[in-house]
Formats: sequence, C-alpha cells, structure tokens
Amino acid sequence: MTTVPSTAHAPLKPYAANDPLALIDVDHVRFYVGNAKQAAYFYAHCFGFTIEQVSDQTTGSRDEANYLLTQGNIRFILTSGLTKDHPASKEVAQFGDGVKDVAFTVFDATKAWEKAVKNGATPAPGGEPKVYSDEKGSITKASIQTYGRCIHSFVSRTGAYELTKVKQGGLLNPMFRKLEGIGVNDYNKQHPCGLKYVDHLVGNVEMGKMNHWVKFYEDVLEFTMFKHFDDKDISTDFSSLMSKVMASGNNLIKMPINEPAPGKKKSQVQEYLDWHDHTPGVQHLALRTDDELHSIAALRARGVDFLTLPEAYYDKVWERVNSMLKQHGHQAVREDHERVKQLGILVDSDDEGYLLQLFTKPLQDRPTLFFEIICRRGSQSFGKGNFKALFEALEMEQGKRGNL
Ligand SMILES: [Fe+2]
Repeated sequence: MTTVPSTAHAPLKPYAANDPLALIDVDHVRFYVGNAKQAAYFYAHCFGFTIEQVSDQTTGSRDEANYLLTQGNIRFILTSGLTKDHPASKEVAQFGDGVKDVAFTVFDATKAWEKAVKNGATPAPGGEPKVYSDEKGSITKASIQTYGRCIHSFVSRTGAYELTKVKQGGLLNPMFRKLEGIGVNDYNKQHPCGLKYVDHLVGNVEMGKMNHWVKFYEDVLEFTMFKHFDDKDISTDFSSLMSKVMASGNNLIKMPINEPAPGKKKSQVQEYLDWHDHTPGVQHLALRTDDELHSIAALRARGVDFLTLPEAYYDKVWERVNSMLKQHGHQAVREDHERVKQLGILVDSDDEGYLLQLFTKPLQDRPTLFFEIICRRGSQSFGKGNFKALFEALEMEQGKRGNL
C-alpha cells in the first residue's frame, strides 16, 4: 500500500532556459475594487491576509490607490481609482469588484510580451513594456489581453525588487511603501489561516467560446490541456456547464475555462455573465492549504460565508471516496470524518489520491467572484465527484437570488 503524498506542488516541469514564456511564479493577482482601503480590511479580517504595503496619495500616486495583501505565497493587489475616469473606476461601475490581472513573474517581461504578441495576443491598453526603477532595483511590466475584462501581465524583477526579496517582506515595486502598526496584521500572525498559494483560477466565458479561449492559451501562452469535462460530467436535472482545464508548461498554474451549456434552468456560468455585464471574467480563485480542517475552521470563525451542502452528501461520500482510494492502493482519507462533516467540507478522490475543498459564496454583492479553499493529498483533479452536489447547492443559492 502506498501512502497518499502530502500537498506538495505537482512537480514543476523545467522550462527550456531560453524560453521567454517560462512562468516562474504567479507574481500577483490584481483586483479592481470600489474601495481598496475597505476591501483590504475585509480580506485581512475574513481570510487572514496581511495588509503589507500601500501605494496611494502618500506615495505620490494621484489617480489610484493600491494595497498589497500577502499570505504564504499569495500576493493580491487591490486597486481603486481616485477619479471617475480612472479605468478601475469605470470597470467597477460596469462589473463590480473582481479580478483584473493575473500577473506572472518571468525572466524578461519584454521578451515574454513580444513572444506572446507574436503568438497572437492583443496587447492590453497601455500594456507595452514599461520599466519602473530606482537606485535599489527595477521591475519591467508588460500586459496582454485575455478573456473579457481580464489581462495577464508579465513582470520581471531586479535588485531589491526580485521576487525572492518581495517574499521576505521587500517592497513589491518602487511605488509602494510598507504599512506598520495595523492591529489585524498582528492578530493574523498569531492566528494564521494557512493559505499558501493560488492553486488554480477559473474563467467563465460565453456559450460557444470555450474552445476559442482554449486555443488562445495553447497558442499564446503555450499552455496544454490538462483535463476536460463535458455537460454530462457537470450537470444536474436543471443546469449545466462545460469546462476545459489549461495548464502552464511547467504546471505552475492551472486555468479551467467554463462555458454555460443549455439546461432546463439557468447555468451558474450564465448567472455570472448576466451580472458581469455579459462579459467573461474570473469566476473563482482556488487557494491552497496544507490543512483544510484548520483553514476552514479558522475562516468560518472569522465569518466567511461558505456554500452549504445537502446533509445527504455525507451519507455516501466516504464509501465513494475511500473505495476509490483502496482500489488504487492508497490509504483512506486521514482527516477526521466527523469533523469534515461538521465543517461542511467536500471530499473527492481519483487514481492519484484525494482532495478536500470548499467554496465561499460570492465575495461581493453581485454573484460573480468567489474563492475555493483546497487541500490536495495526491489528487491533481478538481473534485469531479462533487460537481452534482455542489451544483445543487449553487442552484439553491441562485434560487434565493431570483436568478435560476
Ligand atoms: Fe476550482
């Protein structure tokens, strides 16, 4: 019998050293929000993020405020426009709060951007390579358009702004300053939530457009298809969707792409699009933990609102999951089964092991972006065995919102 390995990354495959599109890390995820200062406290209090740095009027930024929030190897930048014509102000009016940019650290942002554009990418507005530097170092940033309102930036770093130094508390770039004396940061240090990094990130696109965006990730960023699910995998009696999972060349990041499929009632993907000005965007960010029970208990205690599964889910889950594990020579789920149920966590298994996962309700008033908290014990999949129960829970929420 083999032991299901713990939660290490799927082994990162090496890139060719001279490949401009080699992705070193998720540099940061930028959100456009209505009020960055207040949003920073929401993510700090509810999810345990450290409010680490700021770039605002006090640092000479006259038209936008940016807060850097960190936890483990997760970096969020929350951006608000300070004028009505700032792009963030306009997009917040159009879409509500949400993800604008999924930025990747690369060796040379200019070369990465040039290759992506040569591969067919459209430069993001104002996305041509720009260098920001001071005597301590520099960052170069260049951006391309992806689905809907979202962009991917390439970021390369030198000197004090190298990512290894940022991870140790160094400034993200020359425009930021450190924040001191924030009580919630001290509290979070004493009471960590255990979120480590962005495991995957799901985009919702319009009906009939999934394959277009699959090809975009293949052609432009040289991703490969990891898995796909059709509407038979992901449907209930009422609603359905289709999904293909794209993975970066080294498995650093997986980006499933969903499109709605016709059903008797409205697909959750369609609900998202309806409330996102009929525009594709990021549906959820999955944040990885090594200890699902600890993380979910901590987040629940902080007031995070999670989806509630039907009680009957736990009648069958252990038999389903543990028999699959046994069949493939793995040990049964090692977490306390009763505690998993109490915390309302979902479990699934495949030939490689198992995973624990749970989904928050939407993080803003519009039913758009939400988070998933995921712990992998061998399984590199996405919880296919939970789709049905999960979608029924989602439909219940859609019904409460009058969107089914
Ligand atoms: Fe997910």
